[in-house]
Amino acid sequence: MDMQFNGAKPLIALFDSGIGGLNLLKVCVKKIPQADFCYVADNFNVPYGNLPAGEIKRLAFAAFDKIAKLNPAAAAVACNTVTAECIKDLRARYSFPIAGVQPAVKQAADLGGRFLVLTTVATAHSPSFKSLLYRYGKNAVVKECPSLAAGIEKNIFDLQNFFPAEAFVKGEFSSVVLGCTHYIFVADKIKNYYGVPVFDGMVGTADHLGEISGIFDHQTNSHPNVSFISGDFDKNRTIFENIYQ
Ligand code: DGL
Repeated sequence: MDMQFNGAKPLIALFDSGIGGLNLLKVCVKKIPQADFCYVADNFNVPYGNLPAGEIKRLAFAAFDKIAKLNPAAAAVACNTVTAECIKDLRARYSFPIAGVQPAVKQAADLGGRFLVLTTVATAHSPSFKSLLYRYGKNAVVKECPSLAAGIEKNIFDLQNFFPAEAFVKGEFSSVVLGCTHYIFVADKIKNYYGVPVFDGMVGTADHLGEISGIFDHQTNSHPNVSFISGDFDKNRTIFENIYQ
């Protein structure tokens, strides 16, 4: 796949604090071939999940000011933490449509039983997550993970030796919700440990992004081009090339 962006198709931009959003990019590249993609990250400030809301918003605005200059057809906040803290502010500030990611609590509730939700500290304390829990989280056990995203970001090239202890909460659960896009990189370890379905919400978000970008009806035979700007773009590109098959 050609990884250079040449501006030939409508552009969709994805933003995350670091590598987590690459998991959404992977799904989007397969589901929305009508677009080219640009990945914007802020790896040097990871984790956002331990920052105060005002600081998360400031960093997200800085990233979206860059995205706005690219004149995208749509953008996605590929980060539960930023979505939880400021998706409404981002939508109010920019004229292009913006999709967000939220923990797949409803999917877990629909499956039934007591379920575990792993999130960053900021997400767990955000009003939007509390409202989601109020609606669908009667049987949810929420576990804040203050160092898991940073641990994954740091150990991404040696994950086979990385033990995600924070994710291994004692208890009987019928499913586990990954409420941070970074956690998707250890989804297999979590699934093996609990032996239950693990939800990450990526497919639903990609579908929503395709809808709001207004280009699902375009015809194309070619692969999307993908560019990486901002943050540690060499790292992001390398990881994306590894996970994209
Ligand atoms: N990947 C981000 C999320 O989905 C957060 C990681 C961080 O704490 O920066 O919440």
